[in-house]
Parts: sequence; structure tokens; C-alpha cells
Amino acid sequence: MRALVTIGACYLDTILTVDHYPGEDEKLRASSISRRRGGNTLNSLEVLQQLLDCGPKNVEARAESMPIYVTSVLPAISSPAIREIEASLGSKIDLQHCIYREGASEPASSYIFKSMSTGTRTIVNYNELPEMTVSEFVQIAETLPTVLPRWFHFEGRIPDVTLQCIKYIRQRFPTDKVSVEVEKPGREGLQELAAVADVAFYSKSWAQKHGYQTPQDFLLSQSPLTPEASILCCTWGEQGAACLCKSKMEYIRSPAYTDAQHPVVDTIGAGDTFIAGILYGLIYRENDFTLQRTVDFANRLAGYKVTREGFEGLGAAMEGYF
Ligand code: FRU
Repeated sequence: MRALVTIGACYLDTILTVDHYPGEDEKLRASSISRRRGGNTLNSLEVLQQLLDCGPKNVEARAESMPIYVTSVLPAISSPAIREIEASLGSKIDLQHCIYREGASEPASSYIFKSMSTGTRTIVNYNELPEMTVSEFVQIAETLPTVLPRWFHFEGRIPDVTLQCIKYIRQRFPTDKVSVEVEKPGREGLQELAAVADVAFYSKSWAQKHGYQTPQDFLLSQSPLTPEASILCCTWGEQGAACLCKSKMEYIRSPAYTDAQHPVVDTIGAGDTFIAGILYGLIYRENDFTLQRTVDFANRLAGYKVTREGFEGLGAAMEGYF
């Protein structure tokens, strides 16, 4: 078990449910609106906290001594948004190492169209908070307790800064683990992040953008490009997810978990939920979950997620599967 440190952006999501994605210059009435805290790493933590709360008591008890730290850029600590962000995360999640931009009052925002006819989500975001710098990260990493083994999970954004942060962890704290998410297809520099991580999480859209049609071909192609990695994971929408265990060059597949009784209603954060499931298996169940079990677990969790709005109740839904 390790203390977990996540590094990623925090958003407030405004979600409009629409029958179909609007054409340019079209006027369209949404069928509902909702607002919730978002951001990839924070979505993952919201789910992870539930897994710890609902999973075996001995795991929860051991996890008590392993803090979970968030490193996100947020507006001024006194701004109303901070209360909302705090309330959206459970008591296990420590926000004291976030970077508060005292001159700003608004967090980053995402406006999301959720189309009922295609099941897809289209996201437009806006963020005027100055990004984290390498020296801010170094300062935080030096302040976090070093007595515990740690796992740093990075969202793959601001790649040049993230790369320097990962390299710094590698040199200064060589026994700490690093994972990274490689998601946005158009973002340059993500390959370099995967190259220095222990675990990489890729999206289907990133794999397809690089010309791959199957998760197996894709993961095998990434193996020589990720010399430090032990595990590569990839989600593949309705085909589920796959992992490559590099030490044995074992390819592991898990077909998507679907339930005819419960249709897909919300795919926002499905990838973040999958990551929560994998981190849960790798960090908190390292002694009793095989990699196959971890992938199946994460896959089922993401399968449950898309059949419900938001992330509530996911830990309870996994009852009997821990
Ligand atoms: C979902 C999500 C949203 C957020 C957006 C940021 O994966 O994290 O919660 O607004 O992506 O890109």
C-alpha cells in the first residue's frame, strides 16, 4: 500500500442533456441541466474513496494510515467554489497541498453536451487559472511526508511541465511509483510522459489517432516506447479494456460489462472511473488482486458508471465483487 498523490485539473462541470448534438447555428432545448465537480483525477478520487469505504474493512483500516493528497490549481481558498469542491470529496481526500490562486475567484469550468442519441459527451472548457509550475510542484513534493512509500498519479496535461515533474520524482524519490494518463489525442508530448512512467493509462481515441484499430496491436506497439513501465492499460469503449503486463509480456483483456436492463446514460468520467478501479487494485489490493482481477474490477466499475448519472453509489454497486 502507498500514499497516493494526484496531480490534475479541477473543473466545475455544467452538463446539458440534449437529444442530439446541435448543428452549427442551431437552436436547441436541453432536456436537463446539472452541475457537478469534475476533473479527471478528482473524478477518479471520488470513486476511489467509495471503493475504500465499501470494500473490505481490513483494507479500509490499512488505508487509514495512507493519505490521499490532491495537487490541483484552485481559486482563492476563501472563494465559494472551494466549499463546493471540498464537499464533493470525502474526508479521506486531503486538499491542503492544492495550489490556491488568491487572485482568482472562479475554478476552471467545463460545459458539456451529453447527447442521448449517440451516448457521447462533447466538452468545451475554460480555464484562466495560471497553471502549476515545476517549482511549485517541487515545493509540494518536498513538503509531503516522505516516510511513507508514495504513488504519484498525473493527468497528462501541460506535458512539458509534467515531464519535468515526473523526472524530478524519478531522480529524487526513486522508490516512489508514477502513473500517467495519456488521453487527449491532439496533445503533443504525452508519449514522452508514458516513456518515464511505471503505469500508463491510454484512451481509445489516443490509440486510434496513432493509427491502431485494436487494443492489442496498440499496447504491443507502446511496449518498446515505455522502457520504465511495468503495466500499460487501455480502455476501448464498448469493447471493454485491456492491459499489458510488460514483465511477462502478458496481454489481458476484459470485455465491456453491459446490462440490458440498465442502458448507458452518462459516459462523462467513465475513463476516470476505470483508472480509479485500476489504482484501487494496484495500490490497495496489491497482495490479493491479480492483474486480470484488477482489470475486470475496473472494467465492471466503469460499466456500472455509464448506467448512472455522476459517480454516486459506485462503491455500493461493487458489493460482492471486492
Ligand atoms: C471528464 C472530465 C470532466 C471535466 C473534463 C476536463 O473526464 O474530467 O469532469 O470537465 O473531463 O477535461
